[in-house]
Amino acid sequence: MQERDENSTVSYTVENRIAWVSFNRPDKRNCMSPTLNRRMMEVLNELEFRDDVGVLVLTGEGTAWSAGMDLKEYFRENEEKGLGHVRKAQREAYDWWERLRWYEKPTVAMINGWCFGGAYGPLFGCDLAVAAEEAQFGLSEINWGILPGGGASKIIVELTGFRNAMYHAMMGENVDGKKAAEWGLINEAVPADRLKARVTEIAQVLLGKNPTALRGTKWAIRRVREMTFDNSMDYLVRAQEAANFFDGEGRKEATRQFIDDKTFKPGLGAYDL
Ligand code: ACO
Repeated sequence: MQERDENSTVSYTVENRIAWVSFNRPDKRNCMSPTLNRRMMEVLNELEFRDDVGVLVLTGEGTAWSAGMDLKEYFRENEEKGLGHVRKAQREAYDWWERLRWYEKPTVAMINGWCFGGAYGPLFGCDLAVAAEEAQFGLSEINWGILPGGGASKIIVELTGFRNAMYHAMMGENVDGKKAAEWGLINEAVPADRLKARVTEIAQVLLGKNPTALRGTKWAIRRVREMTFDNSMDYLVRAQEAANFFDGEGRKEATRQFIDDKTFKPGLGAYDL
């Protein structure tokens, strides 16, 4: 099934259970305007519980993944209208990034080009990230006189080491996909002409896993990052027991295939769903 609205700020297609969602303002390097932020939330909502969607990929049309917040429509125009408008625009952006962080389905950022500032919000929101080697990542805030807000300062510290984070935020210099992978901002960088194929491979692996277990796993990894060891142990017991309530049969079947049928080994791949 395919849905593509060329006039929309967000476009998407669904093919073979992968939802390919694109920032779709290539003329504006896919910078995030309030209109785009509202539309993205609608699209995420539309796709989250569709049975024909197992993985969501977030990418960008044209030469950019996203050039961050729209300096005109998001910042200047709202600041001129007053604090209420500024706060509303912030909420519309932050809300869909949060939705992405806790999305029901696995998400992959496919970074095809420019990725600046506010775009680190959805970058961190996606569970996995693969970029073109030529993609450019930057905290350009310092270059136009603001600090990396909207979570960006926190995100760079979360994703890379202290010295890299400080250098990246203070110097306003970009890093390419290869360096971003070295730093841990993304999982890997591949040549641009391999990008879609590599993301498809990853998505297909994810589609072969138990979806309840995947959701529990990605939420667990995000939650335990901020917990003590003992709190993590407790959370993980409870999370697995809650997952059993939703999908008790999956793990019984996997145990059967391993212990009784001997048709798969959990250490070497996923069981037959
Ligand atoms: N906000 C508003 N408009 C933007 C943005 C943005 N973040 N990024 C690009 N555009 C617009 C440009 O104004 C231009 O509009 P126009 O055609 O009406 O003149 C159009 O997109 C194309 O941009 P160019 O600069 O001509 O494209 P180019 O390919 O030469 O450069 C680049 C791309 C490097 C991404 C450049 O556009 C740029 O520096 N953008 C700003 C990046 C940035 O610092 N983003 C903010 C991060 S901070 C934050 O998000 C909080």
